[in-house]
Amino acid sequence: MALFSFKNSFFLFVFFILFINFGYAKIIKHPSYAKGQCGACHTTKSAKSPDLKMEMPELCYSCHTNYEENDFIHGPVGAGACTLCHNPHESKNQNLLTTSTVNELCTSCHSNKDDMLKSGENIHPPVQDSCINCHDAHGQKHKFQLKADRKKDLCLTCHTDKKERITNSINKHGAIEMGEKCLGCHDPHSSPNIKLLKAEDSKTICLTCHSTSLPRDEDGKMLMNMGEHIANNPNVHGPIMWGDCAACHDPHGSDNLRMLKSPFPEKSSAKFTSDGYICFQCHEPKKMTEKFTKDLTEFRNADKNIHYLHVNAKRISCKTCHDYHASDLPHHLRDKATFGSAKFPLRFIKTLNGGSCNPICHTIRYYDRVEPVNVRTNKKL
Ligand code: HEC
Ligand code: HEC
Ligand code: HEC
Ligand code: HEC
Ligand code: HEC
Ligand code: HEC
Ligand code: HEC
Ligand code: HEC
Ligand code: HEC
Ligand code: HEC
Ligand code: HEC
Repeated sequence: MALFSFKNSFFLFVFFILFINFGYAKIIKHPSYAKGQCGACHTTKSAKSPDLKMEMPELCYSCHTNYEENDFIHGPVGAGACTLCHNPHESKNQNLLTTSTVNELCTSCHSNKDDMLKSGENIHPPVQDSCINCHDAHGQKHKFQLKADRKKDLCLTCHTDKKERITNSINKHGAIEMGEKCLGCHDPHSSPNIKLLKAEDSKTICLTCHSTSLPRDEDGKMLMNMGEHIANNPNVHGPIMWGDCAACHDPHGSDNLRMLKSPFPEKSSAKFTSDGYICFQCHEPKKMTEKFTKDLTEFRNADKNIHYLHVNAKRISCKTCHDYHASDLPHHLRDKATFGSAKFPLRFIKTLNGGSCNPICHTIRYYDRVEPVNVRTNKKL
């Protein structure tokens, strides 16, 4: 008997679950409609004369918050067209919506966003998920009925790591607080470019601002005009040739010199460590650590490594000899070098298997990879 009644209640339970899932719970009813209180909205209880007892949307506002008290009101809400989106009686959708998903609803009117969702590239995940992650369907105190200010605050509600970065990094980027802020570089919905960028690569974006002698840095120093510099110097460094300024700089700020993604010495002279130079993200640090080599670098006299000599033994930073943005000499060598406050020509001359320099640091010096020379006289050894 006990078993029988258990079985009974088990079947009842299964029936109840099925009922919840496929029957009863499928239809959501407006509370007044569910209770048969037709008179809450209609003049009579009769289904035959469905006259409303008040104009729309005042009828709805007699019980619900008045959305028109917002500064930015969604078109159809302002027009009182609640029933374009809601069925006032019942619906199988959440919030009595007339479509099964919010995005279907929004794109039924905003057809360009429908095209974007169907054929756009790189759609921002919260857009794919639901428009109301950012927009309010009714009204808001922010433009485009957004849930926070569109230029930056909205983004930071989800991107808390970026909030941390732009607030706490030592070297902050002026761009974050200028003009359109985050939206100056990113599209909030989708983009054919990586990282929702508004241009095909980061370089194009950077040079919209860095093609004048302004902007100034935080100490008031005028920054170099990078657009002009690259245009005037044909030997452009690899990552910039690919259009990727963000290979080295973090546009959201960083704790390193000049918002670099990893450290680089500020001064012309620095004790050598392989993690003190961002260059070794891509280049081989052994160029600087091996006293003798026949293959790690071309800057050698036979097997005597001249990179090692300068960078490691004499602590001279790459920036004294190379311009990692662009130069008009081979090997991204500088025309004019800077050491401390001194500015002087490097006078680099390339030869078939080596070259020579004649800076102010020392008198002219020669090197040859194939047939070693006396570095002072250029005579074969
Ligand atoms: C929350 C308010 C509300 C309640 C409660 C309500 N209605 Fe309605 N009803 C409306 C609105 C608004 C319309 C007009 C819809 C439109 O024009 O798009 C409407 C339309 C109708 C219509 C016209 C046909 C149709 O469906 O569009 C009938 C019939 C109707 N209601 C019957 C009823 C009955 C019967 C009840 C009670 C069981 C009831 N309504 C309860 C708001 C309500
Ligand atoms: C453009 C479509 C659209 C229009 C027009 C619209 N709504 Fe909504 N409404 C929505 C969506 C989408 C949700 C779900 C929102 C959410 O979860 O934040 C919603 C949710 C609601 C809710 C339940 C959640 C809440 O905010 O309390 C109420 C009540 C509501 N709407 C009333 C109205 C009234 C009244 C009108 C007319 C003045 C109206 N809506 C016009 C799309 C619309
Ligand atoms: C007599 C008061 C009253 C009127 C008039 C009224 N509502 Fe409601 N409505 C309620 C109550 C109560 C709820 C349940 C509590 C809530 O969600 O705010 C509700 C809930 C809703 C919901 C959420 C339903 C859900 O469970 O997802 C929507 C949408 C809604 N109403 C739309 C409307 C629209 C559109 C109108 C005008 C045509 C309207 N209401 C008129 C009282 C009213
Ligand atoms: C019934 C049609 C309709 C639906 C559904 C609809 N909208 Fe709208 N939407 C409009 C109209 C009309 C305007 C006003 C256009 C204008 O002012 O140029 C508008 C304006 C907007 C604007 C401001 C655009 C601007 O240029 O000022 C945004 C943002 C917006 N809707 C988002 C949404 C979202 C998100 C949804 C889904 C929750 C949605 N819309 C659903 C018709 C609709
Ligand atoms: C991640 C947040 C976010 C989501 C999710 C989102 N939007 Fe937007 N939307 C914005 C921002 C920010 C703007 C303002 C853009 C600007 O000022 O350039 C905007 C502007 C708009 C505009 C007016 C300008 C224009 O592009 O026409 C419409 C319409 C719009 N959104 C519709 C939608 C629709 C429809 C969806 C869902 C498919 C959606 N949005 C999802 C953030 C979002
Ligand atoms: C509702 C939450 C939300 C909001 C608001 C939001 N995002 Fe996102 N965003 C995400 C999620 C989730 C991802 C995917 C995971 C990730 O990369 O963090 C993402 C990814 C991104 C990406 C990387 C895309 C890629 O292809 O790798 C960028 C860039 C971005 N968001 C920028 C923005 C900007 C700019 C804003 C403000 C207009 C914004 N987001 C607002 C949730 C949000
Ligand atoms: C000056 C242009 C610029 C501005 C302003 C900007 N970003 Fe970016 N953002 C980029 C670039 C370029 C990338 C790609 C970075 C990379 O490749 O390392 C990126 C990448 C991202 C990513 C993807 C994750 C990552 O770090 O690679 C997110 C999320 C993001 N940005 C959010 C934001 C937010 C939020 C704001 C506003 C606070 C903002 N961005 C402002 C240029 C910008
Ligand atoms: C909207 C204009 C704008 C854009 C776009 C922009 N910047 Fe800047 N940038 C500035 C301003 C203003 C400063 C000076 C204030 C400061 O130091 O942050 C600056 C400073 C810098 C600095 C020097 C930072 C320091 O520590 O002194 C670097 C490096 C830099 N930007 C790189 C970039 C890169 C890389 C991009 C592209 C991903 C970029 N910028 C895009 C406006 C911009
Ligand atoms: C290979 C790495 C690398 C790439 C790629 C790179 N930079 Fe730099 N950038 C640096 C280093 C290292 C410094 C610090 C130089 C110094 O202080 O001598 C710097 C400094 C700067 C400065 C400050 C210059 C000044 O006046 O002192 C700006 C502005 C700048 N970069 C912009 C850009 C822009 C724009 C791009 C893309 C066109 C870019 N960078 C690409 C490594 C790079
Ligand atoms: C994101 C990767 C990357 C980083 C970081 C990087 N480089 Fe490069 N570098 C390259 C690529 C790719 C080439 C080959 C294309 C070319 O000649 O520019 C190259 C070439 C060079 C060359 C010329 C090579 C030759 O054979 O003539 C020099 C010099 C150079 N880099 C110096 C530096 C210095 C100094 C730094 C640090 C400030 C640095 N690089 C950081 C990618 C990088
Ligand atoms: C004293 C000047 C000087 C300094 C300092 C210097 N270089 Fe060089 N570098 C050269 C010369 C000259 C060449 C050209 C060698 C040749 O091909 O004849 C060169 C070539 C290169 C090359 C091309 C490949 C190779 O090894 O021949 C790279 C990459 C490079 N340097 C990176 C760096 C990096 C990274 C630093 C800083 C850590 C640095 N250099 C410091 C003078 C210098």
